[in-house]
Amino acid sequence: MLERFLSRDAQSSRPSAIRALAKWINDPNVISFAGGSPNPETFPAEQFAEIAARVLRERRQISLQYGPTRGLPRLCEFVAARCKVSPEQVILTTGSQQALDLIAHTLIDAGDVVAVELPTYIGGTSSFYARSARLAGVKQDDEGIVPESLAEVARAKKPKLLYVIPNFQNPSGRLMSQRRRDRVLEIAREHDFLIIEDDPYGELVYVSGADTRSIQSRDRDGRVLYLGTFSKVLAPGVRCGWIAGPKELIDRFEIAKQAADLCSGMLDQSIIDEYCAAGELPAQIERVRAFYRQKRAVMIDALDKNFARRAEWTSADGGLFTFVTLHDDIDTASRVEQSVKNGVAFVPGAPFFVDGSGRNTMRLTFAKEADERIRDGVARLAMSFRA
Ligand SMILES: Cc1ncc(COP(=O)(O)O)c(C=O)c1O
Repeated sequence: MLERFLSRDAQSSRPSAIRALAKWINDPNVISFAGGSPNPETFPAEQFAEIAARVLRERRQISLQYGPTRGLPRLCEFVAARCKVSPEQVILTTGSQQALDLIAHTLIDAGDVVAVELPTYIGGTSSFYARSARLAGVKQDDEGIVPESLAEVARAKKPKLLYVIPNFQNPSGRLMSQRRRDRVLEIAREHDFLIIEDDPYGELVYVSGADTRSIQSRDRDGRVLYLGTFSKVLAPGVRCGWIAGPKELIDRFEIAKQAADLCSGMLDQSIIDEYCAAGELPAQIERVRAFYRQKRAVMIDALDKNFARRAEWTSADGGLFTFVTLHDDIDTASRVEQSVKNGVAFVPGAPFFVDGSGRNTMRLTFAKEADERIRDGVARLAMSFRA
């Protein structure tokens, strides 16, 4: 009834199809491959507790005060050094989700075209829909974005932005080859669009020789906005991500952020700042990798045992997901309910495809469950798809 008061942008916003699955994801009786969250066992809770007590007691004027919109200077410098850019090219955000929102707010007018991968991250598309963007799907294969498809979309639809997740993508788990990254940048130059390179999973590598070098690392003309986050290597509850990009745009994002929240949580940033300054991050990243490497191996092995010749799945050499493609005539969404009755939840793939395809796909995370439950869950899943 109050619909008439909604802005046009609010009317074109879409709720997350995955958050709608929460009631199943959180039922302890159901084995869940559905969530996208990191495993709490990887969170450095004890170290955070010690640091939090210290910064609250000794540095309340920083940790409990409003802070700089761009973020704590030392943490900005830390992030800048990791991204090999200057600190003035960095802004810290309330998770990389806010980075997506600030970019969308600052760059998108209603009707502008954003090119996205088929499939892509729903939180990304939500931010673009919320600014009434039109989304154009670009094909993806095992090497990442298909350059011919990108060039075609660029010619036909003239996108302003390309949104891409080159490292162990959510949802596909795929790693884009370096050759393709070069081509993507060339096509962006040729057709003059910007690239949002979202990289939450680049540190979560489980094989040797995976080449995760960013598109940004070869950007010479200020075309790439690189998004990073501490959510997957530390914890998503301390909401801290960043944008690294051309200063001219970072200055604009700062203005948008002033309107959004003045500054991100200073307690969160203080904890992460102390943690990183103490040199703890590299060892933590190794722990997190070892933790998921094992789970990923269990899931891939279980898929081999239960789905061989009935489906294909991505190798998930990093990140938190494997993406399963079943026979063309199977609609995975229609199996969710039966599957939950069988005791296992997954995310159907179609919502990740902006062109309405992908009905025969599903996303599985190996992050949440213990090894035994992963084995059991995959066997139950196979049952749901046998019927
Ligand atoms: C591809 C991608 N981008 C961004 C995010 C948001 O992460 P955060 O806001 O916690 O940094 C996620 C979270 O799952 C993601 O998968």
